[in-house]
Amino acid sequence: MSEPFSEIPELARADEAVRDGIGEEDNPVPLWFNVGFYGLIVFGILYIVYYLGSGWSQSGQYQAEMERAEALLAEHRATLPSKNPYHDDANAIAEGKQVFDEICSVCHKPDGSGLVGPSLVDPYWKYGDDDESLFTSVSEGRPLGMPPWGTQLGGEKIWKSLAYLETLPKSDTPGVGAPQAPPTAGGTP
Ligand code: HEC
Repeated sequence: MSEPFSEIPELARADEAVRDGIGEEDNPVPLWFNVGFYGLIVFGILYIVYYLGSGWSQSGQYQAEMERAEALLAEHRATLPSKNPYHDDANAIAEGKQVFDEICSVCHKPDGSGLVGPSLVDPYWKYGDDDESLFTSVSEGRPLGMPPWGTQLGGEKIWKSLAYLETLPKSDTPGVGAPQAPPTAGGTP
């Protein structure tokens, strides 16, 4: 087996002292090392100049991303219908009943009269009872315990469950949650 390093020319130092067959040599620093070494110094200087001079900052980048997201959200909201397309649509109402019984009834009771969540059949509305407000209540949730359903249900199912909600018998007596909310001018949907 040949020695792997035996082909590297060895530059013995002039004052080389050989002890026990081991001598000192004066080989040049390899090119790759110098390129890497000085390259990193140059890179470091450029990086510092760029970092300090360009005005870039982590919080600035975060801010810009948040603004982009807000703009996207606003754009998305603008494309949502502001009217329920399923008023009086029997098939949609039947599908909406499934959603309501499965999900909403847990907190609002199957007849909508309220349990953990407020009554949805009395004339008292905290966040409004026009189509858009109702959709926002369900899609994005409300702070005092109403979860957002937008991602899980999607717009279609939310509109359908609201179309079903309209068909539930109304009640004139204040239901659960009523005292905190004055009646709206429009009354029930
Ligand atoms: C985990 C319990 C829970 C579930 C499930 C739930 N809600 Fe609610 N909901 C609440 C609570 C609590 C509030 C009151 C929130 C507040 O006052 O900030 C509320 C508020 C509302 C409001 C606004 C009422 C008002 O007075 O303005 C509507 C509309 C509504 N829910 C509809 C629905 C529909 C439709 C579903 C099914 C997709 C649903 N909720 C599922 C708990 C729930």
